[in-house]
Amino acid sequence: MAILVTGISELVTCDDTLEGADQADGLGILHNAAVIVGAEYEDAPTSVLWIGAATDAPEADWSFDLGGQAVLPGFVDTHTHLLYAGDRAEEFAARMTGQAYDGGGILTTVEATGLATDSELRALLTARLDEFHSQGTTTVEIKSGYGLDIEEEVRHLRLAREVTEETTFLGGHVVPPDYRNDRQGYVGLVAGDMLRAAAPYARWVDVFCEPNSPYAFDGDEARVILTAGLEAGLGLRVHGNQLGHGPGVQLAVELGAASVDHCTYLTDRDVDALAGSETVATLLPGVEFSTRSSYPDARRLIDAGVDVAVATDCNPGTCNSSSMPLMIALAVREMGMTPAEAVRAATVVAAQALRRSDIGVVRVGARADLAAVSAPSYLHIPYRVGVPIVKTLQV
Ligand code: NIG
Ligand code: FE
Repeated sequence: MAILVTGISELVTCDDTLEGADQADGLGILHNAAVIVGAEYEDAPTSVLWIGAATDAPEADWSFDLGGQAVLPGFVDTHTHLLYAGDRAEEFAARMTGQAYDGGGILTTVEATGLATDSELRALLTARLDEFHSQGTTTVEIKSGYGLDIEEEVRHLRLAREVTEETTFLGGHVVPPDYRNDRQGYVGLVAGDMLRAAAPYARWVDVFCEPNSPYAFDGDEARVILTAGLEAGLGLRVHGNQLGHGPGVQLAVELGAASVDHCTYLTDRDVDALAGSETVATLLPGVEFSTRSSYPDARRLIDAGVDVAVATDCNPGTCNSSSMPLMIALAVREMGMTPAEAVRAATVVAAQALRRSDIGVVRVGARADLAAVSAPSYLHIPYRVGVPIVKTLQV
């Protein structure tokens, strides 16, 4: 069945090759537009079948009128840790009065999550995903990393796989207490038996490469885990340069990671390496907000030619927000991005960080993952900060 959506004041396609569109900001905008979505054959995913001026729209089986809203690609949130139980609200409160984040709280969540049954975790996950979808996010990546042993890491990835194809094995999140005096032993386990057991449920492998945290992994340790992941056929993602300068960015670029995330502390050499690479820098401004840290300088990265995405990093420790509209507002207010750059960062560049071309864009043949803004322009997303004006378009 083909459905015609009309009453689109501004269709932000995020396709910077779309001819006839307003390309002033690389957003490929069509004004007074219409979209037809539908499945091309039975059981096919719903995709975009036609886009253009509302006055040129062909007939469809069914139609509805948005009454003058902006429409854009559904947000692509490439970085979340949604498989967890419990919360760490008190840790957040302590940080607001000066306590620093060092990664130690992760072990609190490991304990709470280990006590939760599959059905409890499923219920938590479903409620969290509903929250994402209600704010315009249509693709969510989910990492493991609150298991830290073979059985738990596999359990979490298996549950995450039930709801997304974008699953990431993060056994290399922190070194668990049993291995405190045998770090090498834990790295060997993650890169060996744990990876072998986890790989069937994961598309990606990630590591918290952070020599500035006593709990996380240094460059050599991270290299062992990432290299093993690559050999197991997984794509690479890296948590890098979050708490201070370090080797994460250089390692991610050298090994061809799809994305290096956080990028809060960068040297000129790091920026040059990213600019000459296929690795996206994914910035997570909710983390700086919730850890009371300095924001990364997105302007510096974009001006150097780096592809910059934004994501929530939704997790119980460093940022417990599911709101991509908030991340866009923070990117604009605190990291020097224009609203157009921030919208691209949350959609088409984020899709690039997942090496996907079927999402993050409104283009014929792409998935019909759309978000609607109850306002005439995408500019209202950062402008009306904190107001729930973006919704996933149910078609
Ligand atoms: O991306 N930095 C490491 N991991 C998460 C935080 C996880 C937690 O504190 O529970 C992050 O910020
Ligand atoms: Fe993270």
